[in-house]
Amino acid sequence: MIVAIDGPSGSGKSSVAREIARRCGLTYLDTGAMYRSVALACLKRGVDPEDADAVADVARCVSISFETAGDGSQTVLLDGEDVSAAIRTPEVELAVSPVSANPAVRDVMVSLQRAVGKGGDVIAEGRDIGTVVFPAADVKVFLSASPEARARRRAVQRQGGNLATGDSVAVDEASEQEILADLVRRDTYDSSRETSPLRPAEDAVRIDSSELSFEEVIGAILALSPDLGARAEGDAS
Ligand code: DC
Repeated sequence: MIVAIDGPSGSGKSSVAREIARRCGLTYLDTGAMYRSVALACLKRGVDPEDADAVADVARCVSISFETAGDGSQTVLLDGEDVSAAIRTPEVELAVSPVSANPAVRDVMVSLQRAVGKGGDVIAEGRDIGTVVFPAADVKVFLSASPEARARRRAVQRQGGNLATGDSVAVDEASEQEILADLVRRDTYDSSRETSPLRPAEDAVRIDSSELSFEEVIGAILALSPDLGARAEGDAS
């Protein structure tokens, strides 16, 4: 079975997809981490993220892989090196927009993602999973939330809290505003680019998580497929 979760930054896709993978025994595929890894590889090699040909060469020659621990946490390996933290820096965040808008990079990434899908039982999250990567996915979700709700979640995460598990911390108003501005910038870029813009697949179920708890979002997705629900029921934890 293939589950596709798309949506903008900060909509909660990653936490939700990781948890469903754990409960339902699916392989979790974080496609954003793949684009981030290419962006990091470019920065490490001194390649300008706007230099389309040079960036495409980097995408073709790097090796990106994942290791998943028993608790569902994932390590991202770039040419064998753990880059899980390095791909989340503001420098990578800036470089990843032009890298992910590069059609040649997308070709390479989509092939890798489909190769993972061939193994079956995958939950993949990103921007184009239901529209391009796995258009025949068994379950397609477009998960969104208001920009304000998404900025708040990111701000709490950066302070070490996690609204997904009801764990909140005080956040600085200025940094929340900065995160909001960055989210809006990335949304605009991702939705208006020519290649695979962020948009819901016609047959995707849209879920707005602004007012929903983490468990409510998980429940809404599990309810979309009897197979998925049954797998979660069988989860021992
Ligand atoms: O989900 P994320 O924030 O880790 O994604 C990082 C960047 O990669 C973001 O700018 C959107 C882009 N992306 C994409 O274009 N297609 C995907 N399938 C996943 C991410």
